[in-house]
Amino acid sequence: MVKFETYLSTSLILSLFSFKSICSAEVFQLNSQNFDQITSQYELVFVNFYADWCRFSQILSPVFEEAYSTILKEFPEPNRVLFGKVDCENQGSLAAKFHISKYPTLKVFINNKVGKREYRGQRSVEAITNHIRDLLKDPVKPISTHEDHNNIEEKKGAIIGYFNVPPATTNEYVTFRKVATDLKGDCNFYWVTGEPSISHLQAGKQNFIIFKPSRVRPGEQDIIYPGTLQSYDEFSTWSTDKCIPLVREITFENAEELTEEGLPFLILFHAPEDRQSVDTYTNIVHRELYSESSNINFLTADGHKFAHPLHHLGKTLKDLPLIAIDSFRHMYLFPNFNDINISGKLKQFIQDLHSGKLHREFHFGPDPANDDKDNSNDNQIITSPPESTFKKLAPSRNRYTLLVKDEL
Ligand SMILES: *[C@@H]1O[C@H](CO)[C@@H](O)[C@H](O)[C@H]1NC(C)=O
Repeated sequence: MVKFETYLSTSLILSLFSFKSICSAEVFQLNSQNFDQITSQYELVFVNFYADWCRFSQILSPVFEEAYSTILKEFPEPNRVLFGKVDCENQGSLAAKFHISKYPTLKVFINNKVGKREYRGQRSVEAITNHIRDLLKDPVKPISTHEDHNNIEEKKGAIIGYFNVPPATTNEYVTFRKVATDLKGDCNFYWVTGEPSISHLQAGKQNFIIFKPSRVRPGEQDIIYPGTLQSYDEFSTWSTDKCIPLVREITFENAEELTEEGLPFLILFHAPEDRQSVDTYTNIVHRELYSESSNINFLTADGHKFAHPLHHLGKTLKDLPLIAIDSFRHMYLFPNFNDINISGKLKQFIQDLHSGKLHREFHFGPDPANDDKDNSNDNQIITSPPESTFKKLAPSRNRYTLLVKDEL
């Protein structure tokens, strides 16, 4: 019954915007005229950017439709969820607007905002429906006491709101929930339904919010949000800064999306139990390299999992920790990890990549200006730097039709 009504309202919208009448849950054809209007009407719109001639797009099409039917059965409420598609061949401006560089690209729009992460999971009905189901869950979990807060130990950071009135009724909570929706992939959001902690009350706070770093960054203190929830922008900026760290761990799961950010990698390879070099590296990045963050991604990698790139650099597990740049063309080794604490060294290493010096020196030996005691014979035999290994973790031609054939 409910389902029938949804179909009815979907077809009403369809006839309003595309002048077509359709009687089942067909994936909605989006174009530059209707795009904003449609995405602003739904809590979640899942969009398939495709091209008819692309083989992977053709394979996806029926799967996408079936996933949509399944999702609509579960979430029949009006304005909750819509699956749409953009034919990139005749909607070039939309494709350009959303930086589509491969087909098919699946993007989620929540509250009319494009999600930072595109869908990269399996293209099966089950995987897609699981993903969308997960996104439609409430992004804020209630916890009942302050003690529970202390027990939160997760891989992601957490943002915890203490509200002294039933939160659902306040504008503050609406802001909190909105930011939680935006950042749910990067942080977990909680609200405490019970008593706040004594120490926070003594600090004179009524409603307050805490960022609790993930257990991946042990020893870091909780941080209290200094602003108010009157402003979405203010809270969103603060939360983004806390939840998306300057230094991130690369794993096989996130490698593809990290490569697609298009910036070279500065990677610390470390033994899994070695937290100290991770801390040192993280501190140096925050202290000295913040200004480079638009030029390079700061990453850490478990050297046991990523033994292959080490091997490529002519190194083994015994050589950990070590630092290298992967420019997606070549890899360059930071000569001596122990120099990490020498102010300016790591920054110079990055600047040498951007100036082309690293590459030049590999081919032609040390630059003449550098002609001093530092010039040992280290480089003399090497005629070409090792090729990039992380390039291979970028989106694959076995899954996508890539539009830009060049290297990243
Ligand atoms: C760098 O400095 C940190 C903290 O000052 C220290 O813990 C670490 O051992 C130093 N690392 C090296 C390689 O010198």
